[in-house]
This record gives sequence, C-alpha cells and structure tokens, in this order.
Amino acid sequence: MTRKDSSLTILQITDTHLHAAADSRMRGVTTHATFLAVLEHAQRDPRWPVDAILATGDIVQDESRAGYERFRAALEPLGVPVYSIPGNHDDPKLMGEILTSGSFQLGGELRHGAWSIVLLSTFLAGEDAGGLGPARLQGLRQALAAHAGQHLLVAMHHHPLPMGSTWLDGVALRDAQVFWDLIDANPSVRGVVCGHVHQAADRMRKSVRFLSTPSTCAQFLPGSEFFALDDRPAGMRWIQLHADGRIETEVAWVSGARS
Ligand SMILES: [Fe+2]
Repeated sequence: MTRKDSSLTILQITDTHLHAAADSRMRGVTTHATFLAVLEHAQRDPRWPVDAILATGDIVQDESRAGYERFRAALEPLGVPVYSIPGNHDDPKLMGEILTSGSFQLGGELRHGAWSIVLLSTFLAGEDAGGLGPARLQGLRQALAAHAGQHLLVAMHHHPLPMGSTWLDGVALRDAQVFWDLIDANPSVRGVVCGHVHQAADRMRKSVRFLSTPSTCAQFLPGSEFFALDDRPAGMRWIQLHADGRIETEVAWVSGARS
C-alpha cells in the first residue's frame, strides 16, 4: 500500500445517492450509472490504484439495503479499502451491517505513515443539518490527542464553513464553532474535507485547508440563495497526502457520466 515517496493517495467519492432500483433517477441523473462512470474514470487515471477510497456520506438516497449492497458490489472488486461515514440521507444501522466487513470500514480512522484520517459522523436522525454534540466532540478530542505528532485530515459529511448559499448553509454543521475551536487547538490538523454540498471548494481557514467535493451524481449551483442545480457533470476528488504534511488535491469532473 505504501508508495515509494510514502505519500498516501485517496479517492474521495461522495453523495452517490443510490436507490434500491439501479435505474432510479434523481435530479435528472441515473445515480447508479454516474457512480459507475466515476469509478471507471478513476481506474483509468495514473493515480490508480489508490491506497483508500473515502466515501463521505449520502451513499444511499432511499435508505434501502439494496442500495448499500449495490454500493458495496461496485467497490469490492476494486481491491481497495473503503472508509465510509453517514450523511443525512443514510441509514447508519444498515451501513453498520453492510459496510463494516472485509475491506470496508465505517467511521473510526485510517492511520498510514505520517498521516491519520479521522472519520467524523455528523449524522442527526431525522435532520438534513448535521451536528456533533458532546459525545462526538469528546471522541474527536481524544482522536486528535491520540495522533498528536502526525498530520491529520478530518473527514465529515456536513460542511463546517458557510458555502455562501443560503438554503445550503441552513443545513450545515450546527455546532461548527465548537468544532473549529477544537481544530484550532490542534495544530496537527492540516485539512478538513466534506461532502453534502454537491460542489467543489478549496480554501484556507487559518492554517487548515477546507475542501468540499462534488457529488458522483448531480451538482448544486454555487452561491445560489435557493435550491438550484448546476449543469456540471459527476465529480470526485483525488487527495495525495505527503509525508511532509502537504496536501495535493484535484477535483475531476467526469463529462459524459450524465445519463
Ligand atoms: Fe447530504
């Protein structure tokens, strides 16, 4: 798994929104087809095979067992570890049954060389917004302390920074301020990466790189006050974590994946 330069290469896929039926459409796209197109595109890239796939939530749209089974069936043959966290549309119980054995892990962390990735659930039952609360914050505090001296990337579903989109920022991470207070107290944190927003962002907040990643299905129009779709195609994010703490990252758009 270790590369010659000891960097860690991750493929982030997010907001796959699969359904029980493979031909179900959502917001104009057949989500299973665009998901498969993204995976095919990734496998033709020189960065493939990656050390891990990071799936940052909204894996299934209709909370169906068949949706999670199809997600697993598409990824398992790739022979790459898959780390997942739930999004607001997910069923964490089903994820716990289907995405936790073999090469699949739900939550927890990925430790590799100089880096650790902490997988943080922001799922709140019955809510579109996300939250942490005292127990998850305490878990994050302990995880960060346990990896002091390493470079850290925190992965979560909901966005902890405003995207400048009124409707979307209404379903963001609710306790973002306490989250950032904790991050600010841990200088080892190099980056925070999320899904949920169906659009790409790459900016600095103090010394921490904040990244959001387009969905493998339809995208939201950046900066829109009200819900609106963007016409960008399916996407994904390559993340290379270098031993010196550098994050090299790029969003790939998969034209032709729309179906
Ligand atoms: Fe979401």
